[in-house]
Amino acid sequence: MAHTTIDLSFALNGKPKKVKVPAGTTALELLREILNHRGTKEGCGIGECGACTIQVDGKAVNACLMLAAQLDGRDVRTVEGLGDGEHLHPIQQAFIKHHAVQCGYCTPGLLMSTKALMEEDAEPDRTAIVKAVSGNLCRCTGYQQILSAIEEAVAQRPKGDA
Ligand code: FES
Ligand code: FES
Repeated sequence: MAHTTIDLSFALNGKPKKVKVPAGTTALELLREILNHRGTKEGCGIGECGACTIQVDGKAVNACLMLAAQLDGRDVRTVEGLGDGEHLHPIQQAFIKHHAVQCGYCTPGLLMSTKALMEEDAEPDRTAIVKAVSGNLCRCTGYQQILSAIEEAVAQRPKGDA
């Protein structure tokens, strides 16, 4: 039986994308396997680790739990869109400064959860930060460096910027 395909049109890191994908393709498969955006990681594949976290219309979501079809017409952001190509985003700089990256597998997801938090909440406190990244598992760092990095990114943010 022939596979049904669907046409999608959405913004990926600010640029328009049009793709045709087999129905049933997940957002994670679309990003990694079809669009070759491999910064978004696959860990568990069942919504438990947060390695695949991206932003869709600003919200942090697990790409492994979304169908590619759900991205149609949406604003999709991945870790590839964080820096400007020459300079790292301040969140990335804070992660480096605080040694919040070891193997790095969790890092793209954590960065995107942090970005979403900072867009939703101008001054998140420690409790809000912990809650925002509670779905992002890291088996290397013990989380303290990650939380310190996020606190610094929040503190350093220019007023009115996300
Ligand atoms: Fe999506 Fe783990 S790979 S939550
Ligand atoms: Fe290795 Fe977080 S740095 S899983």
